[in-house]
Amino acid sequence: MENRLYLSPPHMSGNEKKYIDLAFESNWIAPLGPNVDKFESTMNEYLGSHYAVAMTSGTAAIHIALVMLDVKPGDYVLCSSMTFVASANPVLYLGAEPVFIDSEHNSWNICPRSLEKAMQNLEKKPKALIVVDLLGQSADYGEIKKVCDKYNLPIIEDAAEALGAKYNGIKCGTFGEYGVFSFNGNKILSTSGGGMLICKTKEQALRAKHLITQAREDAPYYLHTEVGYNYRMSNIVAGLGIAQLGILEDRVNKKRFINKCYQEKLKDISYIRFMPEPEWSYSNRWLTSILVDDDSLLTPTEIISELEKNNIEARRLWKPLHSQPLFEKNKYFFDNESVCDSLFESGVSLPSGTQMTEKDIERVCNIIKNIKK
Ligand SMILES: Cc1ncc(COP(=O)(O)O)c(C=O)c1O
Repeated sequence: MENRLYLSPPHMSGNEKKYIDLAFESNWIAPLGPNVDKFESTMNEYLGSHYAVAMTSGTAAIHIALVMLDVKPGDYVLCSSMTFVASANPVLYLGAEPVFIDSEHNSWNICPRSLEKAMQNLEKKPKALIVVDLLGQSADYGEIKKVCDKYNLPIIEDAAEALGAKYNGIKCGTFGEYGVFSFNGNKILSTSGGGMLICKTKEQALRAKHLITQAREDAPYYLHTEVGYNYRMSNIVAGLGIAQLGILEDRVNKKRFINKCYQEKLKDISYIRFMPEPEWSYSNRWLTSILVDDDSLLTPTEIISELEKNNIEARRLWKPLHSQPLFEKNKYFFDNESVCDSLFESGVSLPSGTQMTEKDIERVCNIIKNIKK
């Protein structure tokens, strides 16, 4: 059996140990510490003058953003339907109600027309909109912001999958009132687990730091006036993050190269279409993803199981959240036909790990080309 090809495994740069050793040498093993400060400041440098706050996960960062937007039980929070459950789970933590919005064909991200429809039809104003930059591709912020400005609706940009991606040259993670990144094991950069909240102002960043440190007040004893959380990133984990950020550009280039190779090698298969990249998008191509046309007689599940027989990991696109049993009572808005349901029915994400060679890509493509019906 040939070596296993994973969907998107962690890929260390070689410099990570240096920062971990520093933490050990100074015995700074606790949360916070110099690596965390440096990870945050390096992130700020990368993004421009924003305020980054490192956390235990991307999910924690979404949760804190919602708390800071004063989301309360019974409130509506709009959210992309085509996403991982972690985008919407924090809405449930607060007893609020996610309302799901369909995708557009162009980017597979939130459809501005469906968003407008939701705003016109909901009986009360939502507290926030969680926009996902799916599979490393920016949403159409020009159009989305028009709607949000009209209704004065704050955006939380869930850029968990999109570090290194851009919209019209502007970096993902900087479009909303808050931006969110994840560094879990399968993301373009991994710290084993971790996340980052990007704030617009220093005051927001200080408040986020307060909330993730059990909301401990500045007093000579333990004093608490509100609910807090234990969401601080550890100094060891942050060491991985500093080293990983140093090679972000290489990783984006490699992911884009992998995508280009797949497109080249599968170009003669008429029933396969690739995730589009609109002219305003510069995707980090986190996971190269395809749609399999109905007339191919092949299903995504058949392709995935054939690849699995050959020790290759591939997976379906996210099952839209509005169709998950967890959210069966939640509202869902779409324009004419539900786009994200059709993406789910025919979509497959192919292995896209940055250690892949051209030969590995060839191996995946040959299996796909030779599947017999
Ligand atoms: C779109 C999206 N949002 C949020 C998350 C949550 O990030 P984390 O796993 O760091 O909590 C993930 C990844 O898991 C994700 O893909």
